[in-house]
Amino acid sequence: MSEIDRFRPDDRRGVDTLYRRTHGADAANALRLRWDWQHRRNPYNQTGQPEIWVAREGPTVVGHYSTLPVRVSIKGIEVEGAWGSDAMVAPERRRQGIGEALVRTWDRNSGAVLALGATTDGRKLLDRLHWPDAHIVPCLVKPLTRRAVRLPQWPGPINRLVSALAWPVVHVVSRSRPLRAECEPVRRFDSSFTALWERLAPKFDLAVRRDASYLNWRYIEPPHVRYSVVALKRQGEIHGYAVYRHRHEPLGRVTLLVDFLADPDDVAGMKTLLRWVDRAARAEDSDKVRAYAMNGPFRRALRRNGYFAVKSTLEVSVKVNAVQVPKGFYDETAKWHVTYGDSDQDH
Ligand SMILES: CC(C)(COP(=O)(O)OP(=O)(O)OC[C@H]1O[C@@H](n2cnc3c(N)ncnc32)[C@H](O)[C@@H]1OP(=O)(O)O)[C@@H](O)C(=O)NCCC(=O)NCCS
Repeated sequence: MSEIDRFRPDDRRGVDTLYRRTHGADAANALRLRWDWQHRRNPYNQTGQPEIWVAREGPTVVGHYSTLPVRVSIKGIEVEGAWGSDAMVAPERRRQGIGEALVRTWDRNSGAVLALGATTDGRKLLDRLHWPDAHIVPCLVKPLTRRAVRLPQWPGPINRLVSALAWPVVHVVSRSRPLRAECEPVRRFDSSFTALWERLAPKFDLAVRRDASYLNWRYIEPPHVRYSVVALKRQGEIHGYAVYRHRHEPLGRVTLLVDFLADPDDVAGMKTLLRWVDRAARAEDSDKVRAYAMNGPFRRALRRNGYFAVKSTLEVSVKVNAVQVPKGFYDETAKWHVTYGDSDQDH
């Protein structure tokens, strides 16, 4: 019979071995590279030890569930929470309820539990535990070149034909436009970003606290991914930021708009940030910019600036334990702020 407990330093080897068996050697090496950053440097990790729930049989680790502690803001009220990031059970011990026991233990010990991009098995597990329904995090794409409209499931000639037909539209939406406010690249988030977060937090029904310590950990310090950050400034005061990176994909080059923040009512501010990202994407020869955005006003801003909604399979699930949430909280998600930068989607 397995027992479930918090991670202890001597579990490290067992956790590593099971990860390697589940995801392969490359993924295990990548995890080792980001281990210290992911667990110990996270500013909201209270204990200093990795927040991993471990299922043991004697000294053997037969399952574990890695979580990422965050502060979760519900209309400005903060609770301790954690993203569930990676559940795994040894193949010979599956279908014995260990996965369920791991998730239950995590849930019982957290003020709020969140999951982004769960696998089919992961989703089944949450459904069995009667978590509130998952929601799709919409994906929006802004085409910058005619190659932007290619799809992997289409044959080459069709992709070329669609690219040619789409060109007039792409040409219009991707035109370069002037910036209206001051934009400034940022190398480190300072306390003025914490002040921005404090000011804006009540505007979101649900969002992870995006203060300077979180943002530096998440976007400046990772050893495995490099992000660019731009701040929106007016008369010297910070009004927003955007985090992005460029990458090669099989069908072209993509700029990922990973995270952003501004007052959802600040239409001009969002426009300025988006134009900056457009320019950066063009300078890197990207074929498109891709963003995931849950918040209604932010999605409107993206659409007004040339982004189109495309199919998304990214789902978010949330369960708040520490406070009573208002009626309809789990169904009305237009004021949630969830992006691709949340949890560990982007790594
Ligand atoms: C997802 C994963 C962690 C689930 O672990 P698990 O210990 O097998 O989970 P459980 O035993 O609680 O549940 C799995 C199934 O076994 C069934 N089951 C549980 N106890 C059982 C028992 N005593 N007898 C028979 N069936 C049982 C459950 O009903 C469930 O069935 P379902 O899939 O049809 O809903 C595991 O499959 C895994 O490591 N997968 C690979 C990594 C992965 O995809 N992780 C998810 C990331 S979010």
